[in-house]
Amino acid sequence: MDVILDVDTGVDDALALLLALRAPDVNVRAITCVDGNVDVDSVVTNTLAVLDAARAPQIPVARGCPQPLAAERIHAQQVHGCDGLGGVRLADPGREPVEAHAVEVLRRTLLDSAKPLTVVTLAPLTNVAVLLTCYPELADRIDRMVVMGGSAGFGGNDSVAAEFNLLHDPEAADIVFRSGVPITMYGLDAFYEVTVDTETAHGLSGSTDPAGALAGSLLLAQAQRFATREVTIGDAGAVAAAIWPEHIDTDPHHVRIELHGAHTRGSTVVDQRARRGILAGRASGAHNARVVWSVDEAALRETFLTA
Ligand code: BDR
Ligand code: CA
Repeated sequence: MDVILDVDTGVDDALALLLALRAPDVNVRAITCVDGNVDVDSVVTNTLAVLDAARAPQIPVARGCPQPLAAERIHAQQVHGCDGLGGVRLADPGREPVEAHAVEVLRRTLLDSAKPLTVVTLAPLTNVAVLLTCYPELADRIDRMVVMGGSAGFGGNDSVAAEFNLLHDPEAADIVFRSGVPITMYGLDAFYEVTVDTETAHGLSGSTDPAGALAGSLLLAQAQRFATREVTIGDAGAVAAAIWPEHIDTDPHHVRIELHGAHTRGSTVVDQRARRGILAGRASGAHNARVVWSVDEAALRETFLTA
């Protein structure tokens, strides 16, 4: 499977990168960076450093949008630490990002591919929204977009109602969800389900594979930060869901992004009436996303650990 990853690395983005690098039959064609958990320059540095630490091949890494389209910038250092990697120190990266902007790298990678690609977004949707605004015809070059973002029944994390990636740039999310690209929404309903316990993380941190060892250290850093014995693999779950869709349960829905609510800006409004057998009322629009309602968490954890 050929994929492009859009990231705001981030502890769990790092776990996702490591999984994508080690998963069998996955070819990461490009990695695009965006402002999110930390500023975009730190995202680029963290991404390159993680790839180096895992002794990854020279996958193109591109710097993308440094701020949301219209929203005030927010970051998530309370979750990922000041550096974005939970205090896990890595060597300075041995290379620079490519010169081209992330939007250009997305465009070229999609056009250069013989077949439509899977795009997995683990971050605010700014880069992808700019791409689809400038080049709407490229929607056809995207086979499926797995979006880590939003929530259907869970509520929010960064605010009571909204998930961080979509709250960071609601206007971008709105553009992407209305673009016609086939979306799988891997939201908070799944995000917190797939966890690794500290004993397993300890085992991983002693791995002879540098990617496994780094994954273990990142998980242990988060266990310490949150004083917990179970740590979510977060964004890595979205990558696992993209690779092994047989381990997720999805339903098609009409999903809109709330752009105005006093308490709900950035949240996902998922029309669940048909799923609940409520057939009266006004139609809200065509299905534009498959929402991940539940996951086989044991199976997804196993795919992560095995990789
Ligand atoms: C999402 O926000 C970020 O903090 C994580 O990396 C994840 O992509 C969870 O809301
Ligand atoms: Ca992320």
